[in-house]
This record gives sequence, structure tokens and C-alpha cells, in this order.
Amino acid sequence: MDLTRLEALIDKYEHDEGAVIALLQDVQAEENYLPREALEHIAERLQVPLIQLYGLATFYKAFTLKPKGKHQVVCCMGTACHVRGGQRVVEAFERELGIRAGDTTEDLEFSLETVNCVGACAVSPIAIVDGHYYGHMSPSKIKRLLQQHRSDKGAPTNGKP
Ligand code: FES
Repeated sequence: MDLTRLEALIDKYEHDEGAVIALLQDVQAEENYLPREALEHIAERLQVPLIQLYGLATFYKAFTLKPKGKHQVVCCMGTACHVRGGQRVVEAFERELGIRAGDTTEDLEFSLETVNCVGACAVSPIAIVDGHYYGHMSPSKIKRLLQQHRSDKGAPTNGKP
């Protein structure tokens, strides 16, 4: 993370002792994750034990210590989705992106996650890409769906740039 930008964020909260979480949220919003160097710098500047920052980073699900992709793919693995082929959908995303669920492609384009029931069982199985819900998902629809969301709109390349 750019050090000047990080300093600006720290200055924003420096006189507010209870604002460490807000600071981490800002870093996460700009970087899509919490880089180790950023946490070390914040700990030093605010005189906060590094382990305390890691405690916050691992306690709150909104934070992640691993880089995330620009695009978030979420597959529902709740009961209704599972019964209607959700597992095959997840496996097809994994094949197409060249990663396992929980990981991010090398080019940082896509992250793939699974969740349990997002409340849209009637149109299961469901996949959510960048907040858009796609019902009645099937492996045959995945290639095109990823093309629609890929930044350069080029063909998916198994996660390689
Ligand atoms: S189980 Fe997937 S939306 Fe409910």
C-alpha cells in the first residue's frame, strides 16, 4: 500500500483511540485486504501491539489478510442449492477459474467463496457475482457469466493474465 496514502488514513483517526477498526476498514476498502506491511506500520505509528491488530483482523469476518480479487463470486451451498446441483456449479467455477473455493486467481480478478443459504431457494442453485444474483445456475452458464464480469471482457484464462 502506498505509504503516503496510509499516513493520510492514520492521520484521519490518530486522535480517536477507538477508531482502529474504522482505520482498518478504510485500508481494507482501498486494498481489498489488510496487507501485513500496513498493519505493521499502523501498529508502530499508533503504538498499538501488532497482535491486537491481527486479533481484530481475524475476529471480524469483514476483514481479510489475503488479497481478494476485483470480482467476488459467491456460490450458495445451502440445502436447496446443494440438492439442485450447487456442488457442480462450484466445481465448474473452480475449473474455469483454476482455483479452489476460498481462493483468488493469480491475476487478482476473481475470488471464489461459498456460503449457506442466501434466502433465494426458489431459484436455486444461486451464484452471486459482484452482488448480482444469478438463479437457476448451471455449469454451462459459467464461462459466459465470468466473461461478462471480467475487467477486460476478454476470455477467461483459468486465472492467468
Ligand atoms: S439454499 Fe441456496 S438460496 Fe437457499
